[in-house]
Amino acid sequence: MDFFEVMKRRKSVRSYTGKAPSEAQMRMILEAAWTSPVARARFENIHLTVITDKGVLQAIVDNVGDRVVRPGSPLYDAPVLILVSAKPVGEVLHNNEYSSAAMIVHNMSLAATALGLGSCDIWGAINLANENPELVKRFKLPEGFVPCCSLVIGETDEPMPVREVQEGKMAVSYL
Ligand SMILES: Cc1cc2nc3c(=O)[nH]c(=O)nc-3n(C[C@H](O)[C@H](O)[C@H](O)COP(=O)(O)O)c2cc1C
Repeated sequence: MDFFEVMKRRKSVRSYTGKAPSEAQMRMILEAAWTSPVARARFENIHLTVITDKGVLQAIVDNVGDRVVRPGSPLYDAPVLILVSAKPVGEVLHNNEYSSAAMIVHNMSLAATALGLGSCDIWGAINLANENPELVKRFKLPEGFVPCCSLVIGETDEPMPVREVQEGKMAVSYL
């Protein structure tokens, strides 16, 4: 699939069949992460956790409880969640560290689209997970790493058609 077609087909998919990506597809998605830019090339300060353990996925969902933004499960019953965590250089995470994590998620999302898989950025449930140290322990992160964001991935029945680019969707000014 042409790169610009991938961008136009990518969308937030919020329904999954339950079938997980194959090992080969997961490898390609991880390669997409590994090709992402990272601020100051501090790759050692980024950690990816591929979560397929249903108990851990359910614990993330249970932690959200009734603080849901949309109806249904906040992880949409997707079979895989890839958590991106970063180790702050200073006391707390800064915008460059969050930005690196977001780029990794987006690269993986584009790769999933190119492979015909559904994916959705999940920030809300991870933000809430960070309020629950017992839940964060279940992610078994290396010392000092903080969950930033995540991507759920899986097979979907939802069509992912090429979407029209909406001229002016985001305001643009020129100086
Ligand atoms: C930083 C960020 C956080 C997001 N967090 C969530 C989330 O927690 N749950 C969710 O369902 N979608 C989440 N999304 C997806 C957005 O809602 C979605 O990208 C937006 O509605 C545009 O739709 P599209 O992705 O289909 O183009 C997030 C997207 C971004 C960029």
